[in-house]
Amino acid sequence: MSNIKKIKDEYLDKLNNELSLESVNQIRTELFGKNGVVSNEFKKLSSIHSEERKKFASELNFIKEEFQQIISKKIQYIEIKEINSKLENEKVDITLPERSFNQGKIHPVSQVIDEISSIFSEIGFSVEEGPDVENEHNNFTALNTPSNHPARDMHDTFYLDNDKEFLLRTHTSPVQVRTMLKGKPPFKIIAPGRTYRSDSDQTHAPMFHQVEGLHIDKEINMGNLKGCLNYFIKEFFEVDKIKMRFRPSHFPFTEPSAEVDIGYEIKDEKIIIGEGDKWLEILGCGMVHPNVLKNVKVDPKKYQGYAFGIGIDRLAMLKYGINDLRAFFETDYRWLNHHGFDPLDVPSSYRGLSR
Ligand code: PHE
Repeated sequence: MSNIKKIKDEYLDKLNNELSLESVNQIRTELFGKNGVVSNEFKKLSSIHSEERKKFASELNFIKEEFQQIISKKIQYIEIKEINSKLENEKVDITLPERSFNQGKIHPVSQVIDEISSIFSEIGFSVEEGPDVENEHNNFTALNTPSNHPARDMHDTFYLDNDKEFLLRTHTSPVQVRTMLKGKPPFKIIAPGRTYRSDSDQTHAPMFHQVEGLHIDKEINMGNLKGCLNYFIKEFFEVDKIKMRFRPSHFPFTEPSAEVDIGYEIKDEKIIIGEGDKWLEILGCGMVHPNVLKNVKVDPKKYQGYAFGIGIDRLAMLKYGINDLRAFFETDYRWLNHHGFDPLDVPSSYRGLSR
């Protein structure tokens, strides 16, 4: 029996057993180490007659290859077995107490924006958005507020550059301009968002929220505006009856213009909407000025309509009995946990707006 055959039989036999990783490595050294049996056979090559050498070399290479394959399979098999036994032994202990889970709360302002969007979407308004950083044109000029107009001072604008070209929008009305410029009438949209003016006290913050409303079509009149606001306020406060009054006012972008108050009273330290003789101003509105329509390429002889701007923070304070506006923006978690809303309770009129 040739030496190669002997080596082959002996080691195939050894490798056939159930082996540990160490024993496989041991066998590998015995075969291919410096003094390994296969290595030693290779060393003989130089002393063999050239005719035989070719055959011998090919046989040697053949068993070398064969052993290497068997050994690497063996190692793989051992490793997989080890992983499986680890998986088996290191099962997750489900009797451990769970980690505590803190669910966040929805801020009252976000809640109120969702409620408002839900109410208006049911009567055909879609929701638009505009950027907080506006240009002077959209915020004032296109809204019929020329450069010397006192409304520009009244708004105490935060300008962002010396040329007074860019500013933080002082109201959501520029979204009227953006909406009408990019589309064709009719328009029926609301646009909630942040607005900025430089004043601050118990009822004013430098950043606050408004929702703009705009309805432009061929036969929209002041009666439609009243009906719409009446509907909205009843839905929002979830009452059947409200007291609402229109006071004549002035905005450069509406004519005629009005401010709207709602009646309320305080009973047992609770605010009751729709009764009593106290009035709270909650919005400005009017019929969109023909100049505004011209500025956005809408023909005022064919189209007309109303716009309104509602102060969202005030509505939230009123509905949810929060009396200091500044608390809204102090990011105090205790306050938010107390006044916030369940994130899974999305407001909709048919499910109930608020719980
Ligand atoms: N933009 C006005 C304000 O911020 C409100 C308003 C909007 C008035 C639309 C009329 C029409 O005071």
